[in-house]
Amino acid sequence: MLKISQRLLALAQQVPSGSRVADIGTDHALIPCYLASRGISSFVVGVDLHKGPLIAANHTVQLSGMSQYISIREGNGLAPLAPGEADVVIIAGMGGDTIREILDQAPEVLEEVKKLILQPMTGSYHVRGWLFQNGWTIEKEDIIQEEGRIYEIIVAEKGASPVLHEMELSYGPFLIQNKHPLLLGIMEKDIISLQDIVKRLAKSTGKEARRKQLQLAKRIEEIKELIEWLSVAKP
Ligand SMILES: C[S@@+](CC[C@H](N)C(=O)[O-])C[C@H]1O[C@@H](n2cnc3c(N)ncnc32)[C@H](O)[C@@H]1O
Repeated sequence: MLKISQRLLALAQQVPSGSRVADIGTDHALIPCYLASRGISSFVVGVDLHKGPLIAANHTVQLSGMSQYISIREGNGLAPLAPGEADVVIIAGMGGDTIREILDQAPEVLEEVKKLILQPMTGSYHVRGWLFQNGWTIEKEDIIQEEGRIYEIIVAEKGASPVLHEMELSYGPFLIQNKHPLLLGIMEKDIISLQDIVKRLAKSTGKEARRKQLQLAKRIEEIKELIEWLSVAKP
């Protein structure tokens, strides 16, 4: 039986049984093969932009014996999909900006999609912002730690979202609300990189640098306040 990492498993577990799934940036097609071999999905499209991953994907599919349920396609983002082919779209292991671009490029495909399962490597702020602006509402969020790295998972469905303030866009409304234990590590890392930028800005004398410095200092304070709130135990 095919074994997949804890991160990929956490993504696969968000797929409702019986869904038609598209895995964008499928690489080795581990998610499609897992979903098909476990009987979770009998139609999975794995899309990738590059030749190497496509060769690897076809190889995994062949080895899994699931080729009648999986279609591996070459192309950019959602472009190789026809509207109505997938009701769940997974986009994992890419930067938030790339995920946002992919989602922006094919409104006619997304029209028919019911669930998005997203795992941005960076810039989850941009992903949440896109969801909020485009008629999607976050249904679930999680953070997975694997081999010393932290991965955010965002699951969204169609529907009106409550207004998300800056901290919620950055750190996730549900992750904050549930005081996710791994959130603190992400926020502390952000503070360190913001403090670094503030230090560098302090060396320049320009007005713009000063304005940016004050803006970042305010942001650091906001994150620290949120950390303080998170560190109070849940009632
Ligand atoms: C880091 S791998 C992630 C693989 C897998 N989704 C995972 O989470 O383990 C990113 C994959 O996305 C593919 N990719 C990057 N941009 C893409 C795009 N615009 N459309 C389709 N695939 C893309 C790359 O070729 C690569 O195979």
